[in-house]
Amino acid sequence: MPQSTSGTAETSEPGNASNARMIRIFDTTLRDGEQSPGASMNLVEKLEVAQALADLGVDIIEAGFPIASPGDFEAVKQIAQTVRGTTICGLARCNDKDIDAAWEAVKYAPQARIHVFLATSAIHREFKLRMTTDEIVERAIAGVRRAANYCDDVEFSPEDACRTEHDFLCRVVEAAIDAGATTINVPDTVGYITAKEIFNVFSMLRERVPNIDKAVLSTHCHDDLGMAVSNSLAAVEAGAGQIECTINGIGERAGNAALEEVVMALKTRRDFYHCDTRIDTRRLVPVSRLVSKMTGIQVQRNKAIVGRNAFAHESGIHQDGMLKERSTYEIMSPDDVGVAKTDLVLGKHSGRAALADRAKTLGYTLSSEQLQTVFDQFKRLADKKKDIYDGDIVALIQQQISGSVEQEWALVDYEVTSGTARTPRVRVTLKQGDREFTEEVEQGDGPIDAAFWAVEKMTGIELVCKDFRVRSATLGRDAIGEVNLEVEHKGKSYRGVGASTDSVESTILAMLNAINRIVAKDK
Ligand code: KIV
Ligand code: ZN
Repeated sequence: MPQSTSGTAETSEPGNASNARMIRIFDTTLRDGEQSPGASMNLVEKLEVAQALADLGVDIIEAGFPIASPGDFEAVKQIAQTVRGTTICGLARCNDKDIDAAWEAVKYAPQARIHVFLATSAIHREFKLRMTTDEIVERAIAGVRRAANYCDDVEFSPEDACRTEHDFLCRVVEAAIDAGATTINVPDTVGYITAKEIFNVFSMLRERVPNIDKAVLSTHCHDDLGMAVSNSLAAVEAGAGQIECTINGIGERAGNAALEEVVMALKTRRDFYHCDTRIDTRRLVPVSRLVSKMTGIQVQRNKAIVGRNAFAHESGIHQDGMLKERSTYEIMSPDDVGVAKTDLVLGKHSGRAALADRAKTLGYTLSSEQLQTVFDQFKRLADKKKDIYDGDIVALIQQQISGSVEQEWALVDYEVTSGTARTPRVRVTLKQGDREFTEEVEQGDGPIDAAFWAVEKMTGIELVCKDFRVRSATLGRDAIGEVNLEVEHKGKSYRGVGASTDSVESTILAMLNAINRIVAKDK
């Protein structure tokens, strides 16, 4: 990635006649996004998402917060060791331990970045940090210097910058750049600022900070008032050269600016913004779908760009207009964001190559073992069901990816008897390593409740069910039923996904998926 030394933004490559600015896309789905309640991902899931982000063309992946936990550290390290073609960044508070851990995790990446943050607003100084302005400046300088000793790509964020007094913000930013920061990120940590105000903050920094042209200015907006995307774009208008965002806009509380929205706004309104990004926009929908599956956070139907209804025209007047001329009601082409042209893809006679190709189009890169397992399941499914749709394939892949870590418990088989006037009876056989266990229970208020009792008894793991959703992966009554489960165990929340054409089996698979996550976490 070309490094800019020329002020707040890069210009695009030579040969671009329009001289549009190239805006860096800094994706923080794996860090700020993963902070969304209930969105935590395991190692395999994070690696899958990181690879998809690299294929999408993001300039920087913020892979996590290495000091936060050994699991976070390992995820950032493995992403740095394996994902190529993009900068891998680790977050650190402004102290030695955090910065050292961030470097230890990202140092394997050919392009590594350390992102150091320290709050600067009066509220944070007084109530959270209990530090004076002088102490903040001193700490920021020390932190940035330490990071700059490790690598030449250092980002500094004055947390809650948008509520920081302008004079003090200028002072901290100038000091951080002098200490070696190459990117200055200006977060709207609490999603409070308006578009006009953020435009003024960025303009003010460019005007008043004497060394501002030695760093790229970056925007990081939260969506508490639903203004994250428009605020990010206003910052770009005022000279920001980097946007921090997440797939589907997931993130702390109401989330961050949605990557797909800022990218498509810049592309569709290039006449207005005169900016480009390196994003391959045809991968936006597949990556959105992947992140939704991995985090369990569903995308609302009417979500801009990636929602199911984003390109659906319902009213007769609109449909008539569309048939006459698409541009009457469509400002973007569905092809440009990767909405699949057809949903019906494979059948009984399709081969492994066709399945691998379809998986790639849907946003998944499968290892050869994963592909083999999904292919075997696909063949079994094709025996039960004539037409296999994208949704079926996603469900099979998702189950494979979710279940691929530390599969302590696996389902061998089950039988259930239930009816309106009887207590359900369920017999479940599970496998733990080479050993098989069978449990029969006759209790509960239905077959699913009975299955919960049986699985809990066998595994010895108690679950409190917090959310239970069944969704058909595709059309038709022979569709795969996908169960998404949220359970609580010892006060912590875990997700589980299961997919089968039989909904009781999907439920047991989802329970085992959640239980395997619990066991992995305990280990
Ligand atoms: O919102 C925020 O301030 C952050 C910082 C760590 C950049 O996420
Ligand atoms: Zn944030």
